[in-house]
Amino acid sequence: MAGVRTPFARAGTVLKNLTAIELGKLCVAELVQRTNLEGRLVEAVVYGTVVPSVIAPNIAREVSLLPMLPKGCEAYTVGRACASANQAITDAADQIALGHHDVVIAGGAESLSNVPILHSRAMSEKLVRFSRAKGPAQQLRAVGSIRPRDLVPVTPAIAEPSTGETMGQSAEKMAKINHISREEQDQFALRSHRLASVGTEDGRLVAEMTPVYVPPRYDVVLTADNGVRTDTSIERLRSLKPVFDKQYGTVTAGNSSPLTDGASAVLLMSEERAKTLDYAPLAFIRSYAYAALDPGEQLLMAPVLAAPLALQRAGLTLAHMDLIEMHEAFAAQVLSNLAGFESRAWAERAGFAEPVGEVDRSRLNVMGGSIAIGHPFGATGARILTTLTNELVRRGGQFGLLTVCAAGGMGHAMVIERA
Ligand SMILES: CC(C)(COP(=O)(O)OP(=O)(O)OC[C@H]1O[C@@H](n2cnc3c(N)ncnc32)[C@H](O)[C@@H]1OP(=O)(O)O)[C@@H](O)C(=O)NCCC(=O)NCCS
Repeated sequence: MAGVRTPFARAGTVLKNLTAIELGKLCVAELVQRTNLEGRLVEAVVYGTVVPSVIAPNIAREVSLLPMLPKGCEAYTVGRACASANQAITDAADQIALGHHDVVIAGGAESLSNVPILHSRAMSEKLVRFSRAKGPAQQLRAVGSIRPRDLVPVTPAIAEPSTGETMGQSAEKMAKINHISREEQDQFALRSHRLASVGTEDGRLVAEMTPVYVPPRYDVVLTADNGVRTDTSIERLRSLKPVFDKQYGTVTAGNSSPLTDGASAVLLMSEERAKTLDYAPLAFIRSYAYAALDPGEQLLMAPVLAAPLALQRAGLTLAHMDLIEMHEAFAAQVLSNLAGFESRAWAERAGFAEPVGEVDRSRLNVMGGSIAIGHPFGATGARILTTLTNELVRRGGQFGLLTVCAAGGMGHAMVIERA
């Protein structure tokens, strides 16, 4: 298992002219080169994205058509909201475990700078009427029926289709239910930026990235995440206004993950094929689990249900984990999830007698997380797995746990073991 990603960039900034497909291709091409892999050996590409292109919805296939990969490499796109890259990875691992494939690339990409803007239903109907019109008179009638309100674009919201609640509102709700203070959230956000700054400066994070030469002139090169704020402070974070509940809220732009562009990819191989090809594996996937709860409840709490299951399937406990990587959608969510790990009530909901336990903070997100690094929805899962694996190897640890919360009230957890 080995991974590469693009640097992550805040949406609307330096990567805004690249599509998710282009970002994914850059990343997968670099992965193949870095791992010195003969492209013809790749049998499948499994890729995730959350806001797909209307024109090319199977991003995996477009990415797999890279010149160094064989055209016979099958490819499919998966969607599990913010855990889409995780879904791609577990699908790839399952295919290998089933003996269907030996070499698979998995990951995901997102360009939140390129979210499709749609027409309203009424406007779409009028446009169709115009395109089918027989002659200028009918065309004029179709154009004449367009009203200013028809021109209002429909943009996808980061909201639950079932409840209408946005992610940010969910984070606010979780902060209130779990008594997470504004100060605790800001301190956690500061920690994320500080640790990501260290990981960037000492080169550990940068080593996981492929530099991106930015089209059309290719005179700008992005070599590190541009959302990491080396200069942020607790005073600055405290001064930011709440976004999702302006009157009583605690969730701000500072303690939320930002909208981000980027891509990631990991290489997975069967143990036998790795041996035959003389590759030294970095880590093994020991177990994984998915869980879900009612999205109208605490939307981002399902990692608390998935983690004990993944640990049980691995035959291990939290105490065995040398490192823990938890996706940081919001500081309020991370702190709620950590409280959930310690709660007997949540353990019972997950079907366990004992809680997962208290996470040793010195083992958690040791190079920061999505609040500082950014969160291109479809790409985050493979970023987290790559960092967890590399850091586990660097520290000589044995086991690592990762968790990701996702829209729809879903959660993912995976346990890996250093090879
Ligand atoms: C929270 C959110 C609405 C903020 O969007 P935004 O207003 O465009 O954010 P910005 O980056 O412009 O930040 C707003 C301000 O806060 C400041 N700020 C943000 N983070 C900061 C930090 N760590 N330190 C200091 N200042 C910070 C910015 O500099 C900016 O200040 P300015 O207005 O003076 O320029 C957006 O990031 C969001 O929707 N995030 C959640 C995404 C989500 O739901 N993800 C799903 C999770 S699974």
